[in-house]
Amino acid sequence: MTGPRAEGLGTRARGGTGVPDLYAVLGHPIAHSKSPRIHAAFARQTGQDLVYEAIDVAPGGFAAAVWHFRARGGVGLNVTLPYKEEAFALAQARSARAEQAGAVNTLGFEAHDRLWGDNTDGAGLVRDLTLNLGVTLRGRRVLLLGAGGAARGVIGPLLGEGAAVVVIANRTITRGEELAETFRGHGPVEACGFADLAGRPFDLVVNATSASLQGEVPPLPAGLLAPGAWCYDMMYADRPTAFVRWGEAQGAAGARDGLGMLVEQAAESFFLWRGVRPDAPAVIAALRAAAL
Ligand code: ATR
Repeated sequence: MTGPRAEGLGTRARGGTGVPDLYAVLGHPIAHSKSPRIHAAFARQTGQDLVYEAIDVAPGGFAAAVWHFRARGGVGLNVTLPYKEEAFALAQARSARAEQAGAVNTLGFEAHDRLWGDNTDGAGLVRDLTLNLGVTLRGRRVLLLGAGGAARGVIGPLLGEGAAVVVIANRTITRGEELAETFRGHGPVEACGFADLAGRPFDLVVNATSASLQGEVPPLPAGLLAPGAWCYDMMYADRPTAFVRWGEAQGAAGARDGLGMLVEQAAESFFLWRGVRPDAPAVIAALRAAAL
């Protein structure tokens, strides 16, 4: 992919017409998305002239919604559930990390309406862990719970940080094994069921299952956390998630939900579109304080 920055997207896209550049997030449902508030805060921080909308796309309408947005003059899109795979298929040029993830959460339009796609989710997780929380990944044993799209999006970036091993534990073991196979050439990755984890310590446990949505935690054996281990839930909620509570009860050195990842993936998208990196920690703090 040629970089969107090199293509002059963003501030230069409208040729100084004084009209703010138009961005949006597409998803279904989308009403509770924090992305418009996050990107508005980034724009204020960096002095960028843009508007960012949330657009609910009914099932079956994704591609039409993308081109309708473009016809309105839109220059960049975020894509959330359930459309990240459709965005991947629609993108005409894709980054290596989008290819690895098999999903796209950031779209941009180049000259002649050529649509590029990237995936900033894994980078968002890694930035939140390493920069904001001070968690070291190099040489560490990582347990990844789940084998769906959320898990797939972060395996490459975790391996890329030099994790000693990424063990994928999933309820449906074959699904985890297939995912591990996909990443075989990228680093040490294994798959197993939850019960197989007994007696095996980890330095970081990342929850990429949707169990939190039902207030559940996968059936994990006790004693999984090595001294100093962290727990990270890719889901977030206003109150501590079931997995964060599990981590605290198991004696984790730290247990966090995915709000930081959400803001960091947004910051990475903003950087792709605008060429400037916003202050993500300030926005994370404001959201946690319900001040945004
Ligand atoms: P996503 O794209 O958000 O990852 P998904 O593809 O539906 O969504 O995957 C959901 C993941 O959460 C899967 O790993 C699923 O396990 P299965 O592959 O066995 O279905 C996991 N999951 C959902 N609910 C769960 C629960 N109550 N306990 C354990 N794992 C659960």
